[in-house]
Amino acid sequence: MNYLVVGSGLFGAVFAHEAAKKGHDVTVIEKRDHIGGNIYTKNVDGINVHQYGAHIFHTSNKMIWEYINQFGEFNNFVNAPLAIHQNQLYNLPFNMNTFHALWGVKTPKEAEKIIAEQRLVLEGPAKNLEEQALSLVGRDIYETLIKGYTEKQWGRSCLELPAFIINRLPVRFTFDNNYFNDRYQGIPVGGYTAIIENMLSNSKVSVQLNTDFFNQKDIYMDKYDKIIYTGMIDEFFDYCYGELEYRSLSFTHERLEEENYQGNAVVNYIDKEIPYTRIIEHKHFEFGTQEHTVITKEYPCAWSKGMEPYYPVNNADNNRLYKKYKQLAEETPNIVFGGRLGMYRYFDMHQVIDAALLLCQREL
Ligand code: FDA
Repeated sequence: MNYLVVGSGLFGAVFAHEAAKKGHDVTVIEKRDHIGGNIYTKNVDGINVHQYGAHIFHTSNKMIWEYINQFGEFNNFVNAPLAIHQNQLYNLPFNMNTFHALWGVKTPKEAEKIIAEQRLVLEGPAKNLEEQALSLVGRDIYETLIKGYTEKQWGRSCLELPAFIINRLPVRFTFDNNYFNDRYQGIPVGGYTAIIENMLSNSKVSVQLNTDFFNQKDIYMDKYDKIIYTGMIDEFFDYCYGELEYRSLSFTHERLEEENYQGNAVVNYIDKEIPYTRIIEHKHFEFGTQEHTVITKEYPCAWSKGMEPYYPVNNADNNRLYKKYKQLAEETPNIVFGGRLGMYRYFDMHQVIDAALLLCQREL
């Protein structure tokens, strides 16, 4: 078969790799000037900068962990983010270190008692995100560590945000700052771009950068036996039912001539007066010892057509709209939609690999 893969992100790269391994010819087109999609890392004098936000690989699935490890070695980085609220530093996720900083408590029993006293008891389902958060963790944690950050992230008051955005708020009664509960976690030594390069290194795969599918849509549809499309599903169908909504982000990257700016890879800024939600210091992902450093500030912003779509807004209206596009996709021959934009779903990297391998099983 002769495959066209639209998009060189993780989904497209896994599919291309597996298809080439089975002897198929694969052309990957990518509209950006680099491979890797949003996991792309750029080497700035030895520091791998996560250009599209902090990416920490984590999974409890041994098969997925072994799969990704065949493309590069992973280090033993553990994500232990910090949060700053009114100049005070707190550990995340919410754990005994956080509770000690908040209330001075030293034992799980003391912390459990305070949270139990503060939890809002609901008589029915939560009417908004604030009610949901108050019912899960109580007022102090909500007001100190959730409210400002969430309102910045979504550009709306927590009273106007739907409760479903926060399903769970893990509260941990141990002194454990490891953000993820997963069995496996790490950062690829040398960055994510090298992982994608290795996935695409088969001679049966050819990659064309700076190439937008829509510049030659009809030609591509004719020329290839099958298309794996990882761009936006509504764009493919020319927004015939309307636009799916996203939340966007902008990033500013700064090189600083100092060795260690914040002493941690990820620091969240909770207060609404500070326009960014986090500062990433990339060298700490790989325990860098360079004399310089690179930091990135992450600013949430509204999305409109033409901007980078980062987070799908999976409310009832958008999900309904997506279902209509999905139906149309199923009726369109010789094309499969995959990845976070093609399937209109927030995926972590391990979930993208899982979804791509599932498609490979069906397809190849
Ligand atoms: P991705 O968007 O990466 O790739 C799609 C590609 O298609 C892009 O390169 C795009 O340019 C290209 N394309 C689109 N339209 C095209 C067209 N018309 N023609 C040609 N090319 C086209 N996950 C995790 O496990 N741990 C983490 O810490 C994080 N952190 C994180 C932070 C932030 C800020 C975000 C937004 C996301 C994360 N993620 C994450 C999720 C992770 O980014 C995600 O799982 C993968 O990047 C998704 O890979 P895809 O291949 O699906 O999409």
